Amino acid sequence: MLNDKTVVLGVTGGVAAYKAADLASKLTQDGVRVKIVMTEAATKFVAPLTFHTLTHTEVITDMFTAPIEYNETHVSLSEAADAVVIAPATANTIAKIAAGMADNMLTGVVLATKTPVIIAPAMNANMWENPITQENTSKLKARGFIIVEPGYGRLASGKMGYGRLADIEVILGTIRQVLGGKGDLGGRRLVVTAGGTQEPVDPVRHIGNRSSGKMGYALAEAVRDRGAGVTLISAPTSLPDPASIEGIHVQTARQMKDAVAKAVSKADALIMAAAGADYQPKSTAKSKIKKDAETMTLELVRTPDILTEVKGDFIRVGFAAESEDVVANARKKLDKKKLDLIVANDITGAGSGFGADTNKVTIIDKKGNVENLPLLTKREVADKILDKVAEILGR
Ligand code: CTP
Repeated sequence: MLNDKTVVLGVTGGVAAYKAADLASKLTQDGVRVKIVMTEAATKFVAPLTFHTLTHTEVITDMFTAPIEYNETHVSLSEAADAVVIAPATANTIAKIAAGMADNMLTGVVLATKTPVIIAPAMNANMWENPITQENTSKLKARGFIIVEPGYGRLASGKMGYGRLADIEVILGTIRQVLGGKGDLGGRRLVVTAGGTQEPVDPVRHIGNRSSGKMGYALAEAVRDRGAGVTLISAPTSLPDPASIEGIHVQTARQMKDAVAKAVSKADALIMAAAGADYQPKSTAKSKIKKDAETMTLELVRTPDILTEVKGDFIRVGFAAESEDVVANARKKLDKKKLDLIVANDITGAGSGFGADTNKVTIIDKKGNVENLPLLTKREVADKILDKVAEILGR
């Protein structure tokens, strides 16, 4: 998907420069053409050979000994790039860019480029918190630079503080979102739900279901990578939060409904991949229910149906997890819930059950078109669903 993209990765002189090698490697594995530009100080921390070996391209370290294929290198590089990324970015480089300086190849590329520039600062906590650095960073943000904020953690000094390079996955997520920005969902906002809701019985027990959340998380990542903004509203799962995605955590179907209602007010589409509970206990016991009686009856009441009850003008995509008459049952749900699309899956099929990394689905639209897809990874299924959403949005 990123095969035709070029990223200039600028590496500046901080100890976190070694982490940029991992970033360069992952981008290369994603199919991105990575052009490395190192400042002189960066070469003191990591050898250019490391980057050359990982990316198989010339590493540019000097303004005047650049490879011949780049005539006027800083200009041609800045034009070839779909994104310029600086990771790690030192306080010094940030200050130079904020001042409009171009005294080395990297700052020259940044000043000459019209493509998005992503800056991931990494430095000592005092340097990061210094008002001068904060002012420079704010200035760059105001000018449209994308800053991947440094995290809190153990710094090279041994002290804890802010200034640690953001996780590589977070930087990668931002790069993917930027590179997808010109795609068919660029500039859109989607709300995706995931996971299985939990309806509490008492403080230690709940009624739940076997949804792993993998389909919804794959969808949220696919939306991000196609350049759209995404709000992921998740019921409890064991999955880590996807990088560069606004995540909202809820427990019950009712909480999910409230979060969805709020998020869709500025969205183009809602994709309900969550397995929302259909019933909840009529009341939740305040203290733990004791094992006093031989039998126990739990009275359940209906939960709100989120797809039906949340009002607004946006594309509605539902899922139908069925164990029999899959397409017929899914069609009924599409009509009843007034959906634009429904994604039906036979949960009894091999590779399509709960927790699997693959899914075999049928996508049905409101005109009655039925598309049977083969067994695919959940990420591939996500992209197929988004192809349809993009098509409807583009009409
Ligand atoms: N859904 C919802 N609100 C709920 C429960 C489910 O919006 N309280 C959504 C799901 O996210 C899914 C779709 O409705 O996109 C269909 O869910 P499913 O459980 O298959 O269908 P139900 O409508 O609950 O019907 P049934 O359980 O009777 O098959």
